[in-house]
Amino acid sequence: MSYAVILSSKTGNTQRLADRARAELGEKNEVADVASADLVLVGSWTDKGGMDPALEPQLAVLSGKRVFLFGTCGFGGSQAYYDRVLDRFAAALPQDARVVGRFMCQGQMPPAVRERYVKMSAQDPARFEPMIENFDRAVGHPDEKDLEALAAALRAC
Ligand SMILES: Cc1cc2nc3c(=O)[nH]c(=O)nc-3n(C[C@H](O)[C@H](O)[C@H](O)COP(=O)(O)O)c2cc1C
Repeated sequence: MSYAVILSSKTGNTQRLADRARAELGEKNEVADVASADLVLVGSWTDKGGMDPALEPQLAVLSGKRVFLFGTCGFGGSQAYYDRVLDRFAAALPQDARVVGRFMCQGQMPPAVRERYVKMSAQDPARFEPMIENFDRAVGHPDEKDLEALAAALRAC
């Protein structure tokens, strides 16, 4: 089975998922031409609750294609949140694209984000302390367990 990858990863988290997906599907089966691929992996970091808008110009070719959607987001621990983000990702695809699988997990954020939260928590601890806790939970993700769950989601489709 041939596959192509459409990816946006700014700090490497979603890139790690893509690398694992490639290892799972076999690097020799990857093709550059999305139109000819049996399956297209579409991966993005989460930007304001949805897919990186910079990917938009690459999505029209997905009309009628089998698509595996994946990504990472900063807010962790809630499958309901992951599902909402993935629904937003799916809504960015052409209507007749066939989503055959999807996967989302938490991705760690840059240290400057934590420093900002710490400063702001002096003014508004009720709001920012949970955000610091979320930041700390994200450190190290995607981890091996996340990568294995991605591989399992790929095998299932
Ligand atoms: C400008 C900006 C907006 C973001 N918006 C969200 C968001 O709405 N929800 C969320 O959970 N994470 C958000 N994040 C966190 C990233 O999606 C997260 O750290 C992701 O794992 C980064 O993936 P990458 O390393 O592949 O770029 C945002 C990050 C940035 C820089």
